[in-house]
Amino acid sequence: MSFSADVITLFPELFPGPLGASVIGRGLGEGLWSLKVTQLRDFATDRHRTVDDTPAGGGPGMVIRADVAAAALDSIPLDNRPRLLMTPRGEQLTQKKARLWSKGDGLVIFCARYEGVDERIIKARNLIPVSIGDYVLSGGEVAAMALLESCVRLLPNVMGSDMSGVEESFENGALEYAHFTRPAEFEEQKIPEVLLSGNHSKISAWRDEEALTTTLKLRPDLLKGR
Ligand code: 6GU
Repeated sequence: MSFSADVITLFPELFPGPLGASVIGRGLGEGLWSLKVTQLRDFATDRHRTVDDTPAGGGPGMVIRADVAAAALDSIPLDNRPRLLMTPRGEQLTQKKARLWSKGDGLVIFCARYEGVDERIIKARNLIPVSIGDYVLSGGEVAAMALLESCVRLLPNVMGSDMSGVEESFENGALEYAHFTRPAEFEEQKIPEVLLSGNHSKISAWRDEEALTTTLKLRPDLLKGR
């Protein structure tokens, strides 16, 4: 069984988007993973195909109705795939979660829009609220794409070299080391000499040190608890 993704959205035309390009898109074409997109509006029951309503208690924006969201979720046969709700009110996506989910059968992802979705849907359909970071997007679609890309690229046979999975940023709790290629000198900047030395243990030590220094400077939070 390969990784199968279901996405529920008001903007199905946004998919596959970036998920259709490069190695991930090739994997999609080759059946290494699959993507099914469901139009939330198809589950509205009135003749205006309404999916949202004004927030209880007042305030700006509109809220997606729990009954419409439930009907859309219920149209996808229940299996053991985690069901995610893309929302800035979720727990943050990490490489650890991407790796965990990439080992499963796939994901069912509900993309919120407007001010969000009626909170009752989370408990009613056992959804896991997931965010991709501390900033606000207009909807969960781009976040769902980022999340799916992070999972799918970890699938066996999708990424070109299987090795590159373990040397990457976050896989070992820090940022990855800096990279260089020819020319040896670019606008007065030289490639660090050790990288041209051919001494692989020295190169490895330099990379560890570089990764640590950069992580300490830019993302000290990643090193806490190490
Ligand atoms: Cl998952 N959705 C929206 N709308 N904004 C976000 C997000 C998700 N993650 C970070 N910002």
